[in-house]
Amino acid sequence: MDLKQIEIQALEEIEKINNPEELEKFKIKYLGRKGELTAVLRSLKDLPLDERKKHGQEANKFRSELEELIKQKQEELSAQGLAYRQAGGSRLAGQTTQLDITAPGMILPHGHLHPLTQVLRQAEEIFGSMGFEVVEGPDIETEYYNFDALNFPKDHPARDAWDTFWLKSDKLLLRTHTSPMQIRYMEKNNPPLRIIVPGRTFRYEATDASHSHTFYQLEGLMVGKDISVANFKAVIEEFLKKLFKQNLEVRLRPSYFPFVEPGFEVDVKGGKFKNWLEIMGAGMVHPNVFNAVGYNPSDWQGFAFGMGLDRIAMLKYGIDDIRLFYSGDLRFLKQF
Ligand code: DAH
Repeated sequence: MDLKQIEIQALEEIEKINNPEELEKFKIKYLGRKGELTAVLRSLKDLPLDERKKHGQEANKFRSELEELIKQKQEELSAQGLAYRQAGGSRLAGQTTQLDITAPGMILPHGHLHPLTQVLRQAEEIFGSMGFEVVEGPDIETEYYNFDALNFPKDHPARDAWDTFWLKSDKLLLRTHTSPMQIRYMEKNNPPLRIIVPGRTFRYEATDASHSHTFYQLEGLMVGKDISVANFKAVIEEFLKKLFKQNLEVRLRPSYFPFVEPGFEVDVKGGKFKNWLEIMGAGMVHPNVFNAVGYNPSDWQGFAFGMGLDRIAMLKYGIDDIRLFYSGDLRFLKQF
């Protein structure tokens, strides 16, 4: 193509350009290393001297003109972009001086709540609807709240069942359960009361598919004038029915925890659970626990329970390895 043709074509094209990407392509097409004008300039060397001079001048003049036109176009486009942004057209103001108003919008990825948090929120909602208040306690506890006040005899082997992470400073530990908050709450509040205590708990034990050194518990406590095991069963049946969205059979099996008498394990069966499944420990608050907080055990009685939130979430979603909750693996997390 000769210079004249290139000029006509280039002027026509630049006129129609209305975004920075097209302008960039245009620049490359004419002024790039393999561009059309560049080719003309390169071919000059084959011409006789006087022609080379004449064509050379023309071609260089056109190159300057073209560069000037491109600059003008750039300014024009960025002024349009600015006006567009000023009119509220884009959230990306400041990111670029040029704006392609035809570019599709950006879709920002959404995060979501961790499955354990989701189950916890549901549990809080369900117990909340039955009048339970949510309270929280410290992860680092004293030996007094974690054991003594909960009626664990000193040097009693029952303490060994809660494999404890002891801290270097005297009598401090990572709480092995959420039960200490029963004491903290009752010390500061008068009965009647209804609370749940969600929280992180810790055990000094080896990790496998069903054990983690760090896990979550949900504690419950209800104290009143004549609270009975029947009240406990009703509350827990209602909770399970709402959480698992099906009617489940509940069975109480005698068991031992120092802070309750009688104490039991709670099993569920029904729906997708074909066999009895143990889901929490519970019992009627031990008189020694009431004594420790200054309640008169002949005036008050109550039930308490503690369940593993991880375990509940595993049953709800059919998860077979507790470690998945703490893996941070997006392939797992994205499923919830
Ligand atoms: N704290 C117990 C544990 O970690 C669970 C438990 C059992 C809590 C009975 C209670 C209860 O409140 O009454 O194994």
